[in-house]
Amino acid sequence: MTHTATFRVGSNIAFIKYWGVSDATLNIPLNNSISMTLADAHTTTTVAWDVDGRLSADSITLDGEELSPARARRIVDHLDRLRALAGVNYCAQVASWNNFPTASGIASSASGFAALTVAGCTALGLDWDTTRLSAIARRGSGSASRSLFGGFVEWNKGSRDEESVAHQIHPADHWDLRDIVAVVSAEEKKVSSANGHLLALTSPLVEARSIRVTGWLDEVREALAERDIARLGPIIELDALTMHSVMMTSQPSLLYWQPGTMAILHAVGRWRAEDGLPVYFTIDAGPNVHLICEADIAPEIESRLAQMSEVESVITSRPGPGPQRIDEHLS
Ligand code: DP6
Repeated sequence: MTHTATFRVGSNIAFIKYWGVSDATLNIPLNNSISMTLADAHTTTTVAWDVDGRLSADSITLDGEELSPARARRIVDHLDRLRALAGVNYCAQVASWNNFPTASGIASSASGFAALTVAGCTALGLDWDTTRLSAIARRGSGSASRSLFGGFVEWNKGSRDEESVAHQIHPADHWDLRDIVAVVSAEEKKVSSANGHLLALTSPLVEARSIRVTGWLDEVREALAERDIARLGPIIELDALTMHSVMMTSQPSLLYWQPGTMAILHAVGRWRAEDGLPVYFTIDAGPNVHLICEADIAPEIESRLAQMSEVESVITSRPGPGPQRIDEHLS
């Protein structure tokens, strides 16, 4: 049995967002979510289980730096889940690299916890299917459940641990979309998503979003099936704005936007109305804006963003595959 495995896993961008949990321990979300797995923003993780007992604690490096015990906590908790599932008590050596900057507005917890789950389980010799791995990854980070699959993915909220899992709706080559992230601030956010999910239920608007989201999920599934950007775009904008309205009206309020965020939203509206460019926005738990469009207009959007003084950098990604096993290990 091998005790070391390395996997590369793409992050994902949600078209219908996960925001709020009905069960915080299990990470059962308030609603289903739909995302696109990203080819060009990924985490590579090696997990080596110390079967010989050389280590006295888990050792975790991220982008070449050893994590402090406080920063490693969430990862160690996840390693504890894997140990409990396998019935072992080995320490682990974990090395992980993101090919994108941590505060870029690309979810490193999605790709990170998905990679940790698949590498950790594989290295323990646990030959579990992707659906089961999706449920395990979800415990580490909700959005990680979706990164276990490539292409276009839906996470069914379910109500029990093994039911709350993602599945693929379409493979990556179904539709050549682009996610163009306009980075307006690379500062680390003050409130993590994990804490934000707990606050969602304090918003007077959360119920309104819950009622409407079922219809939006149907719309997004149909727009994806038809590859219809003019149908997909308005729904993803509406959902992102509604999620941010929930965030802003939580107690305490979560206001992630910066002036640059607003400047981009106005620009996107102008580019559509005045120049006929079919480009739409979505925003995660931060100030950076993801622009979604088809591949043919991506170079035009990138060059317009590069000319905006509010935009620090631009990162573009295509739809990507599910977890890829890598023969060479990180150390
Ligand atoms: C706004 O999955 O990052 O990106 O479970 O605490 O890791 P944790 O939260 P996370 O929340 C994602 C929130 C979001 C929307 C989404 O990706 O669906």
